Amino acid sequence: MENLSRRSVLTLGAALGLVAVADTPKAWAWSSSGSIAGTDTVTDPWDVWDDDTDPLVASLLDAGQIPAVNTAFASWIRNGDALPAGLPPALTTYLRRVNTLPSWADQAKLDRAAQFNKRMSMYLFLLYGLGSGIMSTVIPREARNVYWSEGGADMKSRAAKTFTYGYDLSAPDAFKATGSFVVTSHKTRLTHAAVRHLLPQSAPWRGVTDHPIPISNGDILITFHSLGTYVHRKLLDWRRWGLRMSAAEEEAYLHMWQVALHLLGVRDEFIPNSWAAAEEQSRYALNPLLAPTPEGIDLADILLNLTSSVDLGVTRGFQREFARYVLTDRIGDWLRLPRDYISRGVIEAGWPTYVMFREGLSPLMPETFGLFDRFIRGLAMLFLNNGSSASHTPITIPVMNRPG
Ligand code: HEM
Repeated sequence: MENLSRRSVLTLGAALGLVAVADTPKAWAWSSSGSIAGTDTVTDPWDVWDDDTDPLVASLLDAGQIPAVNTAFASWIRNGDALPAGLPPALTTYLRRVNTLPSWADQAKLDRAAQFNKRMSMYLFLLYGLGSGIMSTVIPREARNVYWSEGGADMKSRAAKTFTYGYDLSAPDAFKATGSFVVTSHKTRLTHAAVRHLLPQSAPWRGVTDHPIPISNGDILITFHSLGTYVHRKLLDWRRWGLRMSAAEEEAYLHMWQVALHLLGVRDEFIPNSWAAAEEQSRYALNPLLAPTPEGIDLADILLNLTSSVDLGVTRGFQREFARYVLTDRIGDWLRLPRDYISRGVIEAGWPTYVMFREGLSPLMPETFGLFDRFIRGLAMLFLNNGSSASHTPITIPVMNRPG
């Protein structure tokens, strides 16, 4: 399925009844009174892109300067590194301006978030990887953008770059001079700006989109809800099996994402100022838009197959059922994930007892402990191998769309 042509994508879509998926967001009605800016206004984030970055990147692409920028960026890794020499002057000026945390960033909260990430790391690997990663394939605009952009043709490399983002975000010094997350965010923001210039030039993409320019502020918020808001909600739910999460930790985890959104160019007036506001925005903006697309079905299959590169000690059926378990069967059905009812029984009975034992709520080691432990350690290794300094895959700005 990896090399689906547009024609076969559409044929498959028609066969599955998926082509006419409605993914047009309704008019925005979320008031910014629940945002960091706190202003009671209603601006539509579907029509807000990145005025600071987009014209600059478009001009660099048109002038053929991005390959040299990518080369220069190879040595720009840590937040405390000097900006690389030899960048186009306009890019240097831009980076000097944006290369700072927002005035409202709180280092104490970011430190608490880092400790929380460390303590929760196993659950986070699982939820980001199997939950958020697969959920992104049922966000129609995102699935189509990813599929038709350059990286869509090489999902292994794309996943590796996304791991770099997650790894850098979760590092204890993510936002400090020795960490890398701020630099990685700038590279990602520039990548998104490049996609905004490139995808509208793709005929296949234009054939499936409902919006002239991709990756608006609204789209980025939706993806945030599939990451931070979703993971927070799952962790809250799993408290019934002994997971501990203090109010201060919840606030810190949100704060980390608020700063991350700011670094991606999302306006303060759209960034939720509490989990309640985030949930409200998510209910309103993410939930109604979730839907299958031929592109998303293909991407989900590729992503789930990628994890076969490490031995998770489980069958393919178990892995697909676990994705269903953390995401709902509705999403699993959309993505045509095969059923394995025996594995499902094992997961439903075994996962709660695994968490309870890990968190000290139950003194008895469940029989299936080894199975779950190997599974989530395998997922963690997949992530960590990628994020280790030996194979940290740098984020590069694309210069073309999906070839072919
Ligand atoms: C690229 C993260 C939102 C579409 C990337 C990359 C990262 C990233 C780390 C660089 C890795 C790569 O090139 O594959 C994020 C985060 C988001 C977000 C953290 C929100 C919190 C979105 C949204 C869309 C999108 C909303 C589309 C609707 C893309 C595309 C690429 C990309 C098409 C380029 C792939 C290529 O190289 O061709 N994103 N993204 N992203 N992102 Fe995002």
